[in-house]
Amino acid sequence: MSEDCRTSHEHSDAHEHNHDHGPLTEIARTRATRRSFIKGVIASGATLGATGYLFRSGEAQARTAGVERLVSLKVNGQVRRVDVLPHETLANTLRYKLGLTGTKLSCDRGECGACTVMVGDATNYSCTTLTHSVADKEITTIEGIAKNGQLHPVQKAFIEEIGPQCGFCTPGQVISAVALLKANPNPTIEQARRAMSGNLCRCGSYQQYLAGVMRAAKGG
Ligand code: FES
Ligand code: FES
Repeated sequence: MSEDCRTSHEHSDAHEHNHDHGPLTEIARTRATRRSFIKGVIASGATLGATGYLFRSGEAQARTAGVERLVSLKVNGQVRRVDVLPHETLANTLRYKLGLTGTKLSCDRGECGACTVMVGDATNYSCTTLTHSVADKEITTIEGIAKNGQLHPVQKAFIEEIGPQCGFCTPGQVISAVALLKANPNPTIEQARRAMSGNLCRCGSYQQYLAGVMRAAKGG
């Protein structure tokens, strides 16, 4: 995870130091680059892929060859037909069969919240959810949060509060905040803190995310 993040930052740092301008220009460019990076992350959850999981998923499939089943999944308002193994987790189906890589895999054991998606209106750790168990439910991933090219108010508020640092936890944080405000549009800060407590952030950006939730609840 951190390697992905470092790679993203390294690219942006290299870009920022290509030209020799004055310090104010440098600061302005750094801020613009940082903001563009955050916007990209927050809209699609895009960071570099975790290929280890792809290989692990492939090995698991090989072990259970011959038991695949075709199911229809309702994801972000679309019905997607996909072959799903009996033991397959929703995180793996989303990422490696449907190409929805905004949903992140980190701990892969229900501890960090990076893989959070909505099933119906409830948040769900997709790494510990069997895909077959949600075949008849509405699934929402980070790719389904912005509408018509417009960021969700939670996404805008997170940008305003500079919540995302490396951005790896951001898709899960967005999903948890969106689900909270859907269920409770005017939460207290304690209610928001509790609702977001299942999403860990290695960068320690908890206060910024919390401020983003409260900002979104107040209308931005
Ligand atoms: S990757 Fe699912 S909870 Fe950590
Ligand atoms: S883990 Fe880096 S922003 Fe949360």
